[in-house]
Amino acid sequence: MFETRVLSGMRPTGGLHLGHYHGVLKNWVRLQAEYPCLFFVADWHALTTDYEKPGELQKNCWDMVVDWLAAGVDPGQAILFIQSQVPEHAELHLLLSMIAPLGWLERVPTYKDQQEKLSDRDLSTYGFLGYPLLQSADILIYRAKFVPVGEDQVPHVEFTREVARRFNHLYGREPGFEEKAKAAVKKMGTKKARLLNELRTKFLEQGETDALSRGQALLTAQQNLSRGDRERLYGWLEGGGKKIIVEPEALLTEAARMPGLDGQKMSKSYGNTISLREEPESVAKKVRTMPTDPARVKRTDPGNPEKCPVWDLHKVYSDAARKDWVWKGCTTAGIGCLECKQPVIDAINDELAPMRARAQTYLDDPTLARNIIADGCEKAKRLAAETMREVREAMGLDYS
Ligand code: TRP
Ligand code: SF4
Repeated sequence: MFETRVLSGMRPTGGLHLGHYHGVLKNWVRLQAEYPCLFFVADWHALTTDYEKPGELQKNCWDMVVDWLAAGVDPGQAILFIQSQVPEHAELHLLLSMIAPLGWLERVPTYKDQQEKLSDRDLSTYGFLGYPLLQSADILIYRAKFVPVGEDQVPHVEFTREVARRFNHLYGREPGFEEKAKAAVKKMGTKKARLLNELRTKFLEQGETDALSRGQALLTAQQNLSRGDRERLYGWLEGGGKKIIVEPEALLTEAARMPGLDGQKMSKSYGNTISLREEPESVAKKVRTMPTDPARVKRTDPGNPEKCPVWDLHKVYSDAARKDWVWKGCTTAGIGCLECKQPVIDAINDELAPMRARAQTYLDDPTLARNIIADGCEKAKRLAAETMREVREAMGLDYS
């Protein structure tokens, strides 16, 4: 139950490009083999800023899912779903909104930043202010431990941790907690109960975090505990109340800043992208027309790779020997720019070939992606429902 779940979401911006691949998707593909992962399309989040053009939402959503699959995100390993198809997220968002201080939301740095950046739209809405809280609901509803995100999203994960702490503080202290926890410890048998008590004391009195992790491992391995008891004991071990929801951690994707065709970061808004479904001829054309070191006017002028965006691409795609070849060839005018660009074109096309092929399978038969998502939504719903049962109970809403 407290397995190390990983969760991340992406707003549906349509077809993805190499920046998404190197910055995010490659990382997802790695994580899905190591942890139980959930990846979802944050379509409600898209509406917080693009509520005036809902018409593009669905197409963008399916295009993005196809690109995830093309990039190697594997529905056999990870759960893929669409946020709005698991409405439990909205219920948790609503319940969390009861306890989320307005000041916390107003202080999240992206709030003012985005309002200024997207000044062409009216973002003084309730939904936009609640953007980070909706994200908290996304994360907390699956009790995700790790949230792989870029640097810009770290404040949202920090905010989520604070909301989780506040929730557990307000609702984790059920009446008779200590007695219930003690009774639960007894169920573990004399020897293990003693060990758990010792570990707890070591952690609480001497701050030994090692003792805490050993205690947690002991609980995880204990088969005969009910869900409620297990949660009590996880909380009790740390000297607190019942842990209904889990504090997540941001898993910072190492700043794989994929350079675009002009040397700036690759981004749709700069128009400097290569899409994951770009045709080979188009890749070649885009790279061939890339700007190079402006000092290299004639073929015989030596250049400086540091002033050339093509060099940035070699840093991504070339090994030491080829980088050496570029450096020497460029600075001595030994190679021409087109010659220098060819290995980059080949490397990008080699990288994209299997993705294009996989994408084609999903484009030929749209029901494939729909079925994958339907299956993922169902699995996600089941996990979300478990948390919601307890959240409702904790907030006095279990009417059964
Ligand atoms: N806000 C994230 C972004 O813009 C998308 C997102 C929504 C998300 N919910 C999430 C990311 C939950 C991680 C976890 O990139
Ligand atoms: Fe850029 Fe290569 Fe031309 Fe040098 S040789 S300017 S690195 S493209």
